[in-house]
Amino acid sequence: MVILSKPVIEQFSYIRNKQPSAALFPPLIPMVDLSKPDSKHQIIKACEEFGFFKVINHGVPMELISRLESEATEFFSLPLCEKEKTGQPKPYGYGNKRIGPNGDVGWVEYLLLTTNQDPNLATENPESFGVALNNYMAAVKKMACEILEMVADGLKIQPRNSLSKLMMDEQSDSVFRLNHYPPCPDALQSLNGNVIGFGEHTDPQIISVLRSNNTAGLQISLRDGSWISVPPDQYSFFINVGDSLQVMTNGRFNSVKHRVMANSVKSRLSMIYFCGPPLSEKIAPLPCLMRGDQQSLYKEFTWFEYKRSAYASRLAHNRLMHFEKIAAS
Ligand code: OGA
Ligand code: NI
Repeated sequence: MVILSKPVIEQFSYIRNKQPSAALFPPLIPMVDLSKPDSKHQIIKACEEFGFFKVINHGVPMELISRLESEATEFFSLPLCEKEKTGQPKPYGYGNKRIGPNGDVGWVEYLLLTTNQDPNLATENPESFGVALNNYMAAVKKMACEILEMVADGLKIQPRNSLSKLMMDEQSDSVFRLNHYPPCPDALQSLNGNVIGFGEHTDPQIISVLRSNNTAGLQISLRDGSWISVPPDQYSFFINVGDSLQVMTNGRFNSVKHRVMANSVKSRLSMIYFCGPPLSEKIAPLPCLMRGDQQSLYKEFTWFEYKRSAYASRLAHNRLMHFEKIAAS
């Protein structure tokens, strides 16, 4: 990782409270079995209550997942100068510690890629990494499409591809991210509490599909503001509701606030497919979801406008605030 000039201790954020949730029995993360006939109802409930759920029986072959995991592990184990040949993440490329252009830092290195162009990978064997990425992304995209169709069905939105078509569009602005959190030295952890790997934020897109290796670290925030740890499960996927879906459902679903804590012994590798609409797509509460005289809570915006505004702000900032309609008093 890059050695920054200031002592590391001064640059990172820490969470002093080691227990993420004060509750004696924090709620279990909802789990949806995609092969069950009632899964759409479970998905809707999970999106309303948590904005987050785990999926099993997802149909993505384990072989594609392991293949990408080993390619990514190989990439992140390259010397820094090799990884940097991929170019800075402006917008796509390799990044280290600095997340975004606004001063956010974390104990993480990452590779940010677009989903509709072959990646420019500066590795020994870019073909095999590229094939692993494309195969994985195609399988995850299909699963995400099915989930969005179940969401539309569950919410009685017609036609059932109303949401999924946004990410299936050739012009869809979906992105893919590989995050590598190296083990964080013990000293740092014990002196300062837990080190932040990726600071709290919501994802701006429609939904995000996350898979990680078996290392803990991911936490989500509940509606009451407390944080709970998400037990890792390398065989499953985790789905986050993003800001755009919160807006389209006029706040019936909530985009989930999440963060990653660094681990002192094991490295964490996560791969996230962020399902985004085309840049020109207008995002606004769907009229068919408005009940009675319910008012729209958000001003209409294009995905381009929202993305620009989101990337101009700090991670933890409530980016939707600028698009909320202020109730006339
Ligand atoms: C993200 C994110 C979580 C993780 O990249 O937006 O929330 O486990 N990552 O890496
Ligand atoms: Ni995220």
